[in-house]
Amino acid sequence: MASLLGKTVVVTGASRGIGRATALALAKEGAQVIVHFGGHARDADQVVGEIRALGSRAEKINVDLAAPDGPHRLAKRAKEIIGGRLDILVANAGIFVPSSVDDLTVDEFDKLFAVNVRAPIFLVQQLRPIMCVESNVIFVSSLAVRSMIGGFAAYAASKGALETIVKYLASDFGPHGIRVNAVAPGVMETEMSAFARADEGADHALTMQAIKRMGRPEDIASVVAFLASNEARWITGEVVQADGGSQL
Ligand SMILES: NC(=O)c1ccc[n+]([C@@H]2O[C@H](COP(=O)([O-])OP(=O)(O)OC[C@H]3O[C@@H](n4cnc5c(N)ncnc54)[C@H](OP(=O)(O)O)[C@@H]3O)[C@@H](O)[C@H]2O)c1
Repeated sequence: MASLLGKTVVVTGASRGIGRATALALAKEGAQVIVHFGGHARDADQVVGEIRALGSRAEKINVDLAAPDGPHRLAKRAKEIIGGRLDILVANAGIFVPSSVDDLTVDEFDKLFAVNVRAPIFLVQQLRPIMCVESNVIFVSSLAVRSMIGGFAAYAASKGALETIVKYLASDFGPHGIRVNAVAPGVMETEMSAFARADEGADHALTMQAIKRMGRPEDIASVVAFLASNEARWITGEVVQADGGSQL
């Protein structure tokens, strides 16, 4: 029996990579999925089509989460589609800036924190009124928070902020029956980790990992699907490391 039958879900950044795999994994469990995207409309259409082919409901929403009112617009549109009850929010959309602190610009820093930190916080704020007992929120952090990877300082700081938010929100929302967790992927085979597609980058990732293959979006999606399900009902305020045993 599908474990998320009748549940409503918003997945940000669901046009590609981890978000796409997550949207599909949750839809396979019977959820109705809002497929949020930024610039890749055709990819989002494809995800919506695949979800509908599975027999689940899906709609896409296009909002730039780097804009200050992006989360507010996304939440407003999501409420129009799903109505008064949101069961699962997966705040996955994120960006990476491959600059060391020496090279980092103020614009890069501001955009990084706008998309990776500000947008998830305000999205939770805006969607909180339609979360209910047993709703849950899942953020997507990164291995970079606990493992020093060259040139990742600002990106890692943005994800470190998210992990702090997980603890606070889990504490604040717990009395209302709402769980808040995060998953922290290692190096994944997606557009974001372009460096890992070069032999040198892939070698570096594989050297770090206990399991000697590249991480795939589906490896993270299955963890999110577990955290989102009632099977994880006693887990909140946690960051689940899903990185093939990196930097053990
Ligand atoms: N890849 C890795 O190695 C890795 C490792 C650890 C953690 N993560 C985290 O996992 C999450 C997903 O990463 P990924 O590898 O799947 O990345 P990805 O393939 O680059 O996909 C990023 C997604 O976020 C959306 N997005 C980015 N900026 C946006 C904006 N300003 N407004 C709206 N949507 C925006 C993109 O939408 P459009 O394509 O439609 O623009 C896309 O759907 C991120 O939070 C990332 O930090 C990734």
